[in-house]
Amino acid sequence: MKKFNEVTLNITVAIIDFLYRGRDFQRFWVLEEIARAPYFAFLSVLHLRESLGLRGPEHIYLMEEHFAQTLNETEHLEYMESRGGSAYWVDRFFARHLVLIYYWVNVVYYWLAPRAAYHLSYEVEIHAAETYAKYLALNGPDEKILEILNDELEHSRELHNAIGLIDSGRLTVKEKELAS
Ligand SMILES: [Fe+2]
Ligand SMILES: [Fe+2]
Repeated sequence: MKKFNEVTLNITVAIIDFLYRGRDFQRFWVLEEIARAPYFAFLSVLHLRESLGLRGPEHIYLMEEHFAQTLNETEHLEYMESRGGSAYWVDRFFARHLVLIYYWVNVVYYWLAPRAAYHLSYEVEIHAAETYAKYLALNGPDEKILEILNDELEHSRELHNAIGLIDSGRLTVKEKELAS
């Protein structure tokens, strides 16, 4: 599944990079619009599992994490909007249709294979951090972009930890907090 995630991500990124060459903040806005979807999808599945009596010991911890992540991605999205990322109709049309597909893909993926779904988002977060690092290397210092880059790295660490948590149902909530 890891290979499948990497190939799918690389193809998607290559298409977006090609379509958005020379339009950094539009590209960042599209990426941030998409980046929110997995966390919302994870929350949806966790809610549904809870409603069906399938709540695991790690549920509350994961729901808090994913809620914080989705809010953080919304802050990134708002920042990209302030830099003109969503100024054009065509970009909003593209991103908002893509995100609908990506949301449902993540819902099904997380329900059926949560580790693989987390791994896909982990790769996406690493890609996001690399994207912002490249922008900084080419355009010089930008405090806000650096802050967002660090947020993406933090998300990748949290996703890595989440894989560990669902692999180990033996940990107490306190131990899980310490592992984060
Ligand atoms: Fe982000
Ligand atoms: Fe992120």
